[in-house]
Amino acid sequence: MKRLSLRVNGTLQRYDGPPFTRLIDVLREDWGLTGTKEGCGEGECGACTVLLDGKPVNSCLIPVCHAAGRKVQTVEALGTPGKLAALQEAFLTEGGAQCGICTPGMLMTAWAYVKKGGSDDPGAIRRELAGNLCRCTGYQHIVNSVASAVRKQRRSRAAKRR
Ligand code: FES
Ligand code: FES
Repeated sequence: MKRLSLRVNGTLQRYDGPPFTRLIDVLREDWGLTGTKEGCGEGECGACTVLLDGKPVNSCLIPVCHAAGRKVQTVEALGTPGKLAALQEAFLTEGGAQCGICTPGMLMTAWAYVKKGGSDDPGAIRRELAGNLCRCTGYQHIVNSVASAVRKQRRSRAAKRR
């Protein structure tokens, strides 16, 4: 079986199992990156979102061979319990952190959005997060969290330009 290489959270990982194994399974079971969660397993809920070359994708729909030679980022790359990323801080203070199933995927989609310089407009944030579902709570705190992270990034960029 051909060995595949992927750069995962900055580390080169090698995989020599079946190439059409789902990316989520390789991340969780082979490499222990269990922050990525499975909800529907059918590309509908966004719980399994990771970044592939910086863009959010559903890792339950992607065979690992499709990610070969590419850059994968999971929620583990965002921050650690002792050193949260600004986006995670925003989810904490604005009440956007909900259950452990939907939150990692929300964070990954939001991370890509903030990094690309998305706006703090609630409608724009809702459109961006449309592929990330929560079955049990409202979305307002999540939207507030992302807006807060956008504003914080804007302030820090402005401060650097001064
Ligand atoms: S688990 Fe992948 S989209 Fe739901
Ligand atoms: S699915 Fe996570 S809080 Fe609803």
